[in-house]
Amino acid sequence: MKTLNKLMLVACAAFSIIHLVMSQNQQGFISLDCGLPSNEPPYNEQFTNLTYISDANFIQGGKTGYIQNNSETVSVSKPNRVLRYFPVGIRNCYSLSVTQDTKYLIRTVFVYGNYDGLNSPPRFDLYLGTSTPLISVIELRPLPYHTYTTRTGSLRTLAHLYFSYSDKIISYPKDVYDRIWQPYFELEWTQITTTLNVTDSSNGYAPPRDAITTAAIPTNASEPLTIIWSLETSDDETYGYLYFGEIQQLRANETREFNIVANGRVVYDSYSPMNFEADTVFNHASFKCEGAVCRLQLLRTPKSTLPPQMNAMEIFSAIYFPQSETSKDDVIAIKNIQSTYNLSRTSWQGDPCVPKQFSWIGLSCNVMDTSTAPRIITL
Ligand SMILES: *[C@@H]1O[C@H](CO)[C@@H](O)[C@H](O)[C@H]1NC(C)=O
Ligand SMILES: *[C@@H]1O[C@H](CO)[C@@H](O)[C@H](O)[C@H]1NC(C)=O
Ligand SMILES: *[C@@H]1O[C@H](CO)[C@@H](O)[C@H](O)[C@H]1NC(C)=O
Ligand SMILES: *[C@@H]1O[C@H](CO)[C@@H](O)[C@H](O)[C@H]1NC(C)=O
Ligand SMILES: *[C@@H]1O[C@H](CO)[C@@H](O)[C@H](O)[C@H]1NC(C)=O
Ligand SMILES: *[C@@H]1O[C@H](CO)[C@@H](O)[C@H](O)[C@H]1NC(C)=O
Repeated sequence: MKTLNKLMLVACAAFSIIHLVMSQNQQGFISLDCGLPSNEPPYNEQFTNLTYISDANFIQGGKTGYIQNNSETVSVSKPNRVLRYFPVGIRNCYSLSVTQDTKYLIRTVFVYGNYDGLNSPPRFDLYLGTSTPLISVIELRPLPYHTYTTRTGSLRTLAHLYFSYSDKIISYPKDVYDRIWQPYFELEWTQITTTLNVTDSSNGYAPPRDAITTAAIPTNASEPLTIIWSLETSDDETYGYLYFGEIQQLRANETREFNIVANGRVVYDSYSPMNFEADTVFNHASFKCEGAVCRLQLLRTPKSTLPPQMNAMEIFSAIYFPQSETSKDDVIAIKNIQSTYNLSRTSWQGDPCVPKQFSWIGLSCNVMDTSTAPRIITL
């Protein structure tokens, strides 16, 4: 989640971002209902009460489509019932204003809903459209800058899980950053819960109350608590954010202590959850998983009288961007030329040289390596 521009490029097909002015709603949240006609007023979504606005002021191309009404789409929420599709142009870019040096959680939603009557969901990917791309919703949620750090690259969400038998998804307003937490539970676990308050540790991660007041322990108290997840390839790198908080009132002679073991290696020795206080443990450096299968285990120490326990967990993979943004001076210069000569071309949106294979038509760029800003060399 380092720089917005780049994450967006990956999140949707050839969407990139430059800076424009827009109004924002809840805590700096940006919620765009893509395809909503510009003359329709902002509205509050019924479950979250978040305010969605039309995307029309932030995109030059594309058309409005409506998903079909049928039994399969009956439960699709309002923001996802209308979409913007892009029948022309190999690059279509959204221009959103974001706060510099702010980290964002970015979510894009794509609901096909047979809007075109062809019954053929499109396939499109990072930069190369294989059919008509579409988008239903774009959401940006600012996060505290010191959270979710990576040495390089950004994070892609694989899952936000809380350990409970419940079938309830937790999101805004219960989660202040609008992360979407899904309940998860294994057969060999037992759930523990509390009705008491669990203090937030004010480390910035602010797990929602409903996620931290419930936890899993192994039913057989001698067994480890094990979580396994897969990555796409064995070259992928992963980050885990583990949430702990002791939610049982321990007697003086009771101890809960365990080792945190990732892929067979102890990453945290003798950890004890804090009494009724949430804590976050994560790996500062990413790790790879043999065969793309990652295994996290909590192993009770000999001293511990109680089984290991975990309340919630977030799993990410690392993503790296092949190109940095075009030199700022060059972008200013080319935009001056564009406005002076009133040049309006559909490809002239977003970053002029990024991605390399879809730079603005009529320009050539000198793209060196990932750490050097590309320069515009001819026009
Ligand atoms: C929904 O949000 C609006 C502000 O956008 C606020 O005035 C209203 O009270 C909220 N409604 C509920 C049910 O929280
Ligand atoms: C689906 O139903 C809604 C509400 O009845 C209506 O406004 C909308 O136009 C319908 N959409 C289509 C594609 O028919
Ligand atoms: C939990 O915290 C809330 C808000 O701080 C407080 O109003 C409530 O009394 C607390 N409940 C318990 C059981 O301590
Ligand atoms: C619990 O796990 C231990 C260690 O793996 C095993 O020896 C024991 O048989 C298990 N107990 C039950 C009831 O399954
Ligand atoms: C801890 O103390 C209680 C009584 O105060 C006793 O019932 C219990 O067996 C003790 N537990 C352990 C693990 O020693
Ligand atoms: C720029 O071009 C657009 C259409 O391409 C035209 O509507 C507009 O009037 C032009 N503006 C200037 C300042 O020439």
